[in-house]
Formats: sequence, structure tokens, C-alpha cells
Amino acid sequence: MAMDYSKNNEKILEVEDLVLSFKTDHGILKAVRNISFDLYKGETLCIVGESGSGKSVTSKAIMGILANNSIVEGGHIYYRGEDLLEVAEEEFHKIRGHKIGMIFQDPLSSLNPIVRIGKQITEATLINSNKLKLMYDDLISDDLIAYKNCLARGKHKADLVQNAYIKELVDFKKKYNGANGGLTNEEVNQKDALIKSSKDLKAKLDASNDEEEKKQINAELDGINAKIKEFDSLAAQRRSEQANERAQQNAELKAKKKEVNQQVKQIKAETLKQAAPLKEKLDQTKKEAKEKVKVYKNQVNEEYKAKVNEINASNLDENAKKEALAAAKLERINKLKITKAEAKRRALEIMKEVGIPEPEKRFKQYPFEFSGGMRQRIVIAIALTETPEILICDEPTTALDVTIQGQILELIKKIQRDRNLSIIFITHDLGVVANMADRVAVMYAGKIVEYGTSEEVFFNPKHPYTWALLSSIPDVDSKERLDAIPGTPPNMIYPPKGDAFALRSKYAMQIDFEEEPPFFKVSDTHYAATWLLHPNAPKVEMPKIVSERIANSLKAKKNGKEDR
Ligand SMILES: Nc1ncnc2c1ncn2[C@@H]1O[C@H](COP(=O)(O)OP(=O)(O)O)[C@@H](O)[C@H]1O
Ligand SMILES: [Mg+2]
Repeated sequence: MAMDYSKNNEKILEVEDLVLSFKTDHGILKAVRNISFDLYKGETLCIVGESGSGKSVTSKAIMGILANNSIVEGGHIYYRGEDLLEVAEEEFHKIRGHKIGMIFQDPLSSLNPIVRIGKQITEATLINSNKLKLMYDDLISDDLIAYKNCLARGKHKADLVQNAYIKELVDFKKKYNGANGGLTNEEVNQKDALIKSSKDLKAKLDASNDEEEKKQINAELDGINAKIKEFDSLAAQRRSEQANERAQQNAELKAKKKEVNQQVKQIKAETLKQAAPLKEKLDQTKKEAKEKVKVYKNQVNEEYKAKVNEINASNLDENAKKEALAAAKLERINKLKITKAEAKRRALEIMKEVGIPEPEKRFKQYPFEFSGGMRQRIVIAIALTETPEILICDEPTTALDVTIQGQILELIKKIQRDRNLSIIFITHDLGVVANMADRVAVMYAGKIVEYGTSEEVFFNPKHPYTWALLSSIPDVDSKERLDAIPGTPPNMIYPPKGDAFALRSKYAMQIDFEEEPPFFKVSDTHYAATWLLHPNAPKVEMPKIVSERIANSLKAKKNGKEDR
């Protein structure tokens, strides 16, 4: 889905065919299914979709902070030409937080409750305050990265091979072992539904005092339990029938494991071979860097000594001498490290930038002394101390009151303008998006189903899911939520075939249940994955609420008024 959003614009992040899953007790959960998008310098890309659609998982993958049970099944995340999925841990540390910052929904979870705000803001700066070390790191950085990346690429290759095997193993276990063994995905869903209604009925039974009603519930329960038992015996029967098949697949898996181990070994050997010359170069560079740092340090010390001698030899009076000596000392220190005073000065500046009044006083306070909105400002300040290029905001205002929400959104817009940041703004609330986005990607069940410029998605939406989201935005005047989206998102252990939204869509056609729709082009910048855009599809109008709203906001726009 290569897209030329703006030819003049620099692309700084490219997510390509990303596939992410999780190992769970119930099987492999497919959280992100082949998503691709780009981020351009200075733009805000909003990713919007219901809870569970894979938004946070995507941003965590970019930050390199996925949970331990995650499986990266494929894809790339290119940042300035480098694939973050292959990058070595060392370099990732440099990128994470430094070049790509992230703000989460709950500011408290990113703040330490028992450390003063000032210390939390200056922490990152002071950790890297040794200028000699920074100089050394900088000198060896290119060679270190080349070497580490070579190792990391090897590891990534090995991981992919192993992950593919692990996936097969989990599927195998799910099919033949455990409570669900022997049932098809659909049957498992049916059984789960039965178990759920049995639980609900039991709760109802406990709550009821009416003998007649109890009797009726008991009868219903008996029926449901019998059906659950039927599934269990069906599973048992299938399992015994499948015994041969299982033994054979087990043997195949064993053979495969051997093969995988062999492959991994080979990848490791190849990697070490490729890395050897890089390691040699790195060692040489380290030697040279040490020497350069030493020269610099000596020079600073020599200059200081010379200055001290000069002052002592001068005919200044005692007080002036003392002052000049102190100044020379400070100058020397500033050449060797970032001092606390310097870090504090920078922190106060950023606190002002993010709109924290009385920063001098606030600097000494603890998180509990701040309101929710102010805390989120602090979190933004901390992210900014590293001068990131990309800021990922994951539902940054969801936990805040509406008025505070607006203020934080304004702040994010302001720092973006001032710093020319690229922002990935994640939210479940399309209402927030209108004000923020240059472009919008709509996500459903681990896929992007529509993307385009903000205008295109708001005024010419094409996917029924986008229509549903648009119809559910509370009306700006009445604040009334118009149409809740019917049904619930699918269980991502068994993602539906075809268009995942079909089950909840009154516009679904037969093909939506069978085949996954490709992206159809609406304009150079606007694409939607819905069969409704196929030339042979019947002509379908978007829901009236949506078209009326669009007409109204276009009219308002024409009248030169803001749409609110
Ligand atoms: N560590 C995990 N283990 C298992 N499933 C997970 C894990 N993290 C997220 N998921 C699942 O991945 C899917 C996408 O989650 P997420 O990206 O958090 O959704 P959202 O769009 O609300 O941010 C959900 O089904 C969620 O339950
Ligand atoms: Mg989330």
C-alpha cells in the first residue's frame, strides 16, 4: 500500500506488513494482521478503532516494548531506513525514548509516585551527563551499531524460524490436547457461548427467590449443560479417532524441531562469521576513541591550569581573584559534564513549554500534588527532554475530563508545531481525531480497513466500519451518542474469514464472509478495504445519520464557521 502522501514530505517511519501474535492459554491470538502505514515528518497520523483492535500493540512494537508472550511473525518497522524489528538492543535504547517518545493513557503509570517531579524530569539528562562518556559513545557509535545490528539481524532471523515452529506447536497442542482438543474453531466458540450462558443462568438462579422461576432456569441449565456435554463427548470421540493423525503430526513436529535447531545453529554460525570483521573494526575504533577522549580531557585540564596560573599571576584584588578562579572551575566542569544546575535550567524551560505554571515551585513537588491534566503535562515534558522526532500518544486524554482533554490536545498540537514533531495519535474516539489528524487510519480486528487524509475519511468515508464509528460519535450539539455499533469485536484467536466486520455490518454481502477484501483506491491518498468498492458491487449509500452530518458540517464550513 505504498502511498505518496506528500511528495515534498520526508517519510520518517514506515510500517510494512506487520504481523503480531500472542501466545495465550487458548491458542495464538492474532493481534495485528498485516498492517502497513507511513509517517511523514511533521504530520499527525491518527489510528482509530475500538478497544482491542491492535492499536496499542502496534505502538508497543514500534517502541520495542512488546510483552514477553508476543510473537513477531513478520513485517518491518523502518525508522530512517533501519528496521527496528532487527535492531540491536543497544541501538534500540538510543532510539526508544530518545528519537521516539511515547505517552500513555494513564500518566500515573509513567511517573514514580515517591520521586519529586523535578528529579524525574532531569533524570534522563543526568544519567547521560558525563560529556567524556557521551563523546566516547558518539565516536564508537557507528561501528558499535554496525556490529550489534549484524548480531541482531541474525537473532531476528533465528527468531522468525523458531516462531514459525512455536506457532505450529501451539496449534497442534490446541487441536489435540486440552479441553478444546478435537473441536473446530466454530465449535469452540459455540461451546464458549454455552459456558457463558450457563454461568449467567447460574447467577440468575442464585439471585432468584421465585420457586417457579428457579424451576424454569434449572430446566434451561440442564439443556445447556447437556449441550456442553455433547461437545465434550464429540471432542473425546474425535480425539480418539485422531489418535493416529496426532501421532503422525507429533513425529513430524519432532523432526521439524530438529531441523529448526539445525537451522538456528547455522544462522548463528553465519552471523558470527559476518560479524567478525565488524568486531575487529569496532575494537580498533574503541582504541582510537579512548585516545581522543584522553586528549580532550588533558586539553581541558591544561587550559584550566593555564587559566589558574594566569589569574594568580594577575594583579586583581583577592575577591576578584576568588571569583575568577570559581568561574574557571565552573567552566572546566561544564566542559566535562552536564551539571545539575544545567539540567535543572533545561527542565524548567521544558516545564514552561508544556504550560506548567510556577515551574520553580512545581519542580520540588510530588506527582500526587498535581492534577491529572498537569501530570500528563509532566509526562509530555519528560518525553520532550530527549528531543524526540516522533511522539506516540496512546489514548493520552482518555483518562481525563473533557475540558482537560481539550487542553492537552491543544498542547500536543502546539508542541508539534513548535518542534515539527511527527505524531502517531492513537484513540478509540473518532470525535477527538477530527481536530488532530492530518491523516487517519481506521483499524478493526488487527487490520487497517480504511485510511486517507482527515478530510477524506470524515467527508467521504467508504468502509462500513468507518460509517459505524462516525455514527457513534456523540453529536456536537446535543452530545447525544447516536448509534452504538451493534455486536462486539471478534475473538482474535479465531479471526473471522473475509471482512472481519461483516458479522456486525448490515451492508455485508456473501463475499464478505468468504474472501478478504483488498484495498480499493478511492484517491491517491485514500484507500478502503471493502468489497462495496468493487466495480460489481451493488450501489450502497452510507447511513443517513452519517451523510446528514457530513452535509451539515460542510455547510457550516462553507459559511466560514467552525463546525462546532
Ligand atoms: N500480552 C498480551 N497477551 C495476550 N493478548 C494480548 C496481549 N496484549 C494485547 N493482547 C490482545 O491483543 C489485541 C489487541 O490489543 P491492543 O493493541 O491493546 O488493543 P487496543 O486497540 O485497544 O489498543 C487484544 O485482543 C488484546 O487482548
Ligand atoms: Mg490500547
